Amino acid sequence: MSNDIKKTMPIGVFDSGLGGISVLREIVSLMPEENYIYYGDSAHAPYGTKPLDEIRRLSEADMSFLLARHVKAIVIACNTATAASAEILREKYPDIPIIGIEPALKPAVLWKPHDRVAVMATPMTLKQEKFQNLMHHYETASEIYTVPCPGLADLVEQYELTGPKITKYLTDILAPVLEKDIDAIVLGCTHYPFVEPVIREIVGPNVKIFNGSHGTAMELKRRLMENGIKNDSTVHGTIEIYNSNSDDKTLEMCKRLLNS
Ligand code: DGL
Repeated sequence: MSNDIKKTMPIGVFDSGLGGISVLREIVSLMPEENYIYYGDSAHAPYGTKPLDEIRRLSEADMSFLLARHVKAIVIACNTATAASAEILREKYPDIPIIGIEPALKPAVLWKPHDRVAVMATPMTLKQEKFQNLMHHYETASEIYTVPCPGLADLVEQYELTGPKITKYLTDILAPVLEKDIDAIVLGCTHYPFVEPVIREIVGPNVKIFNGSHGTAMELKRRLMENGIKNDSTVHGTIEIYNSNSDDKTLEMCKRLLNS
């Protein structure tokens, strides 16, 4: 297939559920001229507390859903699925660019010398070798504290984005690292940016909050250009949203979050 045909094909983006919309939002703002297909697997969310084999099987099914819709590149908009499956998917599908996301530890560490950084992510992301290697690489430059957040992605999936339930969850889980007087927090799960206003309230104005969406969007752009398949259109592209929970409420929520 020629690159001219590929240029107009959509970019596929997937996540275990609603979280990847926070990445899609960033990608669309960087490249509004592209066409997008988003697939969220809310019927099987959360991934972050599932066994590795199951996450790999689900990630491959998500990828197949998008490949069947003739996408030219895939974004794994899920830290957990990236840590568990990106390498395997790249080996299995060498002909399509696959861009993953990882906790934005590097910008957080480089932001300020010898800062204290907390990384919030799913238990699975934090225990994977990919993250452990990243952390070992930077642990001489900063004090790094991991904050596994089982259940937080579920609260986002249940649209608990504000109110007493989410405030209590975040207050309790952040209390130990707040005692360490942290300088920065990395949101290492794509669901978490949707509760960033609550996190901000709890940590106050002086803690800097990082997430990996922008880096992922930039890497996608770079890969499209390198492969000669970036869309040259000058008008806005289309965005199709699908979810394994195909009820109206889930799809409505995805659209709301995309425009938030
Ligand atoms: N949004 C996913 C991530 O970035 C995980 C949420 C889940 O546990 O399914 O890690």
